[in-house]
Amino acid sequence: MILPARLRPLLLCAALALAGPSQAASERVEGLLAKMTLAEKIGQLNVVSGHHAVTGPYARSDVQQAILAGEAGGLFNVYGAEYTRGLQALATSRTRLGIPLLLGFDALHGYRTIFPIPLGQAASWDLDAIREADRITAREASAAGVNWIFAPMVDVSRDPRWGRVAEGAGESAWLGAKIAAARVEGLQGKSLALKDSVAGCVKHFAGNGATEAGRDYSATDLSERALRETQLPPFQAAVAAGAKCVMSAFNAVDGVPGVANERLLRGVLRKDWGFGGVVVSDFGAVEELTIHGVAEDPRDAARLAFRAGTDMDMESRNYVNGLPGLVKDGLVPMAELDDAVRRILTLKEQLGLFDDPYLRSDPSREKVEIFKQANRDASLRLAEKSMVLLKNDKNTLPLPQGLARIAVIGPLGDSGADTLGPWAADGLPDDAITLVEGLKQVVGAGTEVLVHSGGTIFGSAPADIAAALKVAKQADAVVLALGERSTQSGEAASRSNIDLPGDQMALARAILALGKPTAVVLFNGRPLAIEDLHKEAPAILEAWFPGSMGGLAAARLLMGKAEPQGRLTMTFPRSVGQIPIYHDGRPTGRPAGDAPKPYTSTYIDKEPSPLYPFGYGLTYTDFVYGPPRLDRSRMGQGEAVDVSVDVMNSGSRSGTALVQLYIHHKVARISRPVKELRGFARLTLGPKEVGTVHMTLAEQDLAFWQPDNRFAPPDGGVIEVMTGPNAAELRATSFTYVPTLKSAGGPAQP
Ligand code: NOJ
Repeated sequence: MILPARLRPLLLCAALALAGPSQAASERVEGLLAKMTLAEKIGQLNVVSGHHAVTGPYARSDVQQAILAGEAGGLFNVYGAEYTRGLQALATSRTRLGIPLLLGFDALHGYRTIFPIPLGQAASWDLDAIREADRITAREASAAGVNWIFAPMVDVSRDPRWGRVAEGAGESAWLGAKIAAARVEGLQGKSLALKDSVAGCVKHFAGNGATEAGRDYSATDLSERALRETQLPPFQAAVAAGAKCVMSAFNAVDGVPGVANERLLRGVLRKDWGFGGVVVSDFGAVEELTIHGVAEDPRDAARLAFRAGTDMDMESRNYVNGLPGLVKDGLVPMAELDDAVRRILTLKEQLGLFDDPYLRSDPSREKVEIFKQANRDASLRLAEKSMVLLKNDKNTLPLPQGLARIAVIGPLGDSGADTLGPWAADGLPDDAITLVEGLKQVVGAGTEVLVHSGGTIFGSAPADIAAALKVAKQADAVVLALGERSTQSGEAASRSNIDLPGDQMALARAILALGKPTAVVLFNGRPLAIEDLHKEAPAILEAWFPGSMGGLAAARLLMGKAEPQGRLTMTFPRSVGQIPIYHDGRPTGRPAGDAPKPYTSTYIDKEPSPLYPFGYGLTYTDFVYGPPRLDRSRMGQGEAVDVSVDVMNSGSRSGTALVQLYIHHKVARISRPVKELRGFARLTLGPKEVGTVHMTLAEQDLAFWQPDNRFAPPDGGVIEVMTGPNAAELRATSFTYVPTLKSAGGPAQP
């Protein structure tokens, strides 16, 4: 039968809809695909771990054998220009079709030059600096042959027991989305085909940040609203920024593990957001479907994960072993297999690997690029910006110049590994500048730096404390270097107690009792519950795990050579019992208020407010934040509101204010968070100087997940606008949103 011409497009559409989202690839990719055997296709879906940083309970694979057997579309944990050249040579010259390899690595906050942990980077609120850090990471890693980085980690989390909060941007989905996009841009550069670009792999899709009880790998129970409004926005922003790869999550959402979550992978990610890149499983996650109890056996696991939309199997070999039979038995359609292979080959093509598999593995570039001075300078700048001054009574900090002796006491004063932090990629602990080394560089020649660890992170014997006291007594000022070991944060490092480990509080108390000017520098990967330390120590600087130049950055801040600028992106609780605690929770009908009454939403044994709220951070000067001013009292359809705030530096030093903008829908049929971050602006002012910042609220900023399953602003209503230095110190005004008005305008507020 010959169809009339007008019906032919319809038939084509119907056929495409059935075939799924397959997009025609280049001639080269299609040509290659046409030549591939079933085994060669399935081999492309396999990801094999090399010899570093293995994070799962699987035996180390023989990388060379996997390549020669055609069972490695990608490797990870392999790096070094010469080594990766050898691997690419094997793949391209000793396999039938000579397909080059994806070479992945977890370079989450640097490759050799290590930047602050991502949670620390986020505290800079500096998107340009964060983008630059990932640009440098891409340049260094690519010189060493890496073309695929398993970052950014964009899981939004409100549970600091979870060790992996160190890898993310904190609790705000809005800020997390901005940072996710910046980081993808940094990794992938202007074009993926450039030798210093790598493919980013956004993880862990989705809901990993909501992991139950903060325990790694546990399930999540998310409402559709929590999923859409809290967990997904950073992923969507990363995809919109062009991310080429997404890693599915270990955890189950509503009973369906990420690796087999068809609704999320094929539905939200591919269909709704138009993602055309590669989806890779997490380490061994395909086989773990059998442990989740959703797959009968590894073959069934391969079927479920593959059909749900996971293209590549990291380290479980379930695809290699199971897919040949599944395809032959008709349980996995060849068209779907082709689509997955097409996506992987297309990524390799976009990376320029077919034209030159050695483009990135460049020994001479590796020599000059890695850990070069400019990279270290960028790391220093970002470390300075990431540190948050939590307390500074009586201007304890900065410490005066010219002291005869400063004592650094505590187990974190001189540890390179704990300066770098978890997931330190190829960072070398000996390269890191510790706090002790940093102080020695910064204090003048006349100041002696005395050092004592006072025990270890895990315990201090009375003799350790006595010895530390003896040293501290000789000093004019003391810096207490306290916190966590780097392995206490990151993957598989959940803690049920998030106070200072070991006997560090006892050590701190003994030192503080000397009454010397004392500042605490905290090295850690998560918000800690440090209410006692806050009460007892005059000054606290949160340094996170600050990276290669971290000790120098902290020293420069302590000595006033740099100004503290960081602001928290995760709320610090008073006690672990308050978790989850975050700034953008929903209202209750019985708010506790400032002086909690009975039968309100509070605790009977603890005030409900955080120790340090979201957005909090002090400076060495004082700022007075004026009220928000709006340029209109009504917002019509398609309009924006300009929000301005005057800020005065009322102190005697220069400093940088960070004005934050939050909104609240006064009345919406779905109760909205008490405040939601929607903007921020930075202003550096000299003593007594006054300045004004402007921020824009667009109509889309009012949008939330609607009952008819889409993001949209409400039908109208009063929007409260709050501005100030952090989520707990805000001044408010409001405007009316009138979407029926095409151009509302209206008089500006006085
Ligand atoms: C497990 C982690 O969950 C993931 O983030 C990481 O990329 C892989 N291991 C590979 O190392």
